Amino acid sequence: MRLRALLLSMCLCGYTLVTVAESRTVEVNLEAKVARVTISPGHEVEAWTYNGDIPGPVIRAHVGDRLIVHFKNNLPQPSTVHWHGVRLPFAMDGVPGMSQPEVPPGGSFTYDFVLPDAGLFWYHPHVMSAMQVGYGLYGALLVDDPSENIGIPNEKVLVLSDISLEDDGSLMSPAGAGVAAKVFGLEGNHLLVNGREQLNLTARAEEPQRWRVVNAAKSRYFELQLGEPSDKMSFTVIGGDGGLQEYAVDQETLIVAPGERADAVVVPHGKPGSEVVVTDLVYDRGYGSGYDGTHDLLTLSLTGPASASDPPHLAALRSIEPITRSGATDIQMDVTLVQLDARNIEYRINNAPSQNGLTIHASIGETQIWTIKNETQWSHPFHLHGFFFQVLDDNGEPVRPLAWKDTVDVPYDKTVRLAVRYDERPGATGMWMFHCHILDHAEGGLMGMVELGAHHHISDP
Ligand code: C2O
Ligand code: CU
Repeated sequence: MRLRALLLSMCLCGYTLVTVAESRTVEVNLEAKVARVTISPGHEVEAWTYNGDIPGPVIRAHVGDRLIVHFKNNLPQPSTVHWHGVRLPFAMDGVPGMSQPEVPPGGSFTYDFVLPDAGLFWYHPHVMSAMQVGYGLYGALLVDDPSENIGIPNEKVLVLSDISLEDDGSLMSPAGAGVAAKVFGLEGNHLLVNGREQLNLTARAEEPQRWRVVNAAKSRYFELQLGEPSDKMSFTVIGGDGGLQEYAVDQETLIVAPGERADAVVVPHGKPGSEVVVTDLVYDRGYGSGYDGTHDLLTLSLTGPASASDPPHLAALRSIEPITRSGATDIQMDVTLVQLDARNIEYRINNAPSQNGLTIHASIGETQIWTIKNETQWSHPFHLHGFFFQVLDDNGEPVRPLAWKDTVDVPYDKTVRLAVRYDERPGATGMWMFHCHILDHAEGGLMGMVELGAHHHISDP
């Protein structure tokens, strides 16, 4: 383990070094299967699950740990597991036909990799993703850094999602939806938090809680509001996709696009015995947004006695270096929606037809600046596999607070720029995907590949 830890820290050029006190091995069995899940009292659904529930188990590990997952596919369809946001070797990325063969029904596959970063990650299939994720296949992977101490022991992992059900409770097939629905991105008609409708949790009044939130819905954005509009409580955002950010920021609402994560501190105000409701507001992600209004997602029942502890001090959280942009390669991506014929429409990047997709070439050690111009009427949460990036502002400066991300929203009619450095690590070369995390959009053509080759030794940093 010692040698492995050393190798790991040597390979993390450009990223915060991991100090591996003691690396352990975390071993998990993950079985994908159809199972009955109770999403609200008296409401059972026959869903697609990991280990029999929605979401799958929260996998907990420490940074530097080795994770071994024995995956068994007992679905009626092939599947794989993708580890969203984890900087792992390409062979473990879970993309069928690229990093591994599909795992057929009855088959199995062992995922085995080291967790180089602290943060909330998640896992989901990468075969027929819109359908399989929509049917309930997702779970959280929480990687803790024991040396990170923000002084809030009270932590909740919240997996946000939705599911489409027919009136008789059966799963709605995505096949029946029309072209317009796919262009927008199909949202489920039942909203879930940790797999339950209108979840009820208890919370001690006035006691700070750390919420680790992931949006696992296949199309829906979430915008959370805590408390009544007249009596709102703020979210103190301390991190996102790739762990803690530079410093904390207070926000009135918490917006989480599909695939993204948020790390936020909340303090439920109120008397013991009262309730605080978390509402999902209507988020404008383009034409057709908000057709089903706002939803109550979660109720916190406050218990006493009210906590009198001082709110934690969250000023400086982590030092993050901005990615050096000198010598970076510029990559331009234009996202369009193309009408092929009367019945077929596809999303394209740089007009590449969806069967081939766009391939970008890169080499290890290279930095690229991506300029993603969204020329469509719908927003697209862009996700890059296997690497973190930093979002840049209009002047090309990194957005503050600095943060590591793997998914960024590209709003309709807007342009987003980001800087990505392809860091060296064992097995990093390969064909890494990037795609919209509205999974109907990804399947409708909004995806591409980074073909990452070996080091060029042009400008070794
Ligand atoms: Cu979570 Cu290819 O994505
Ligand atoms: Cu999209």
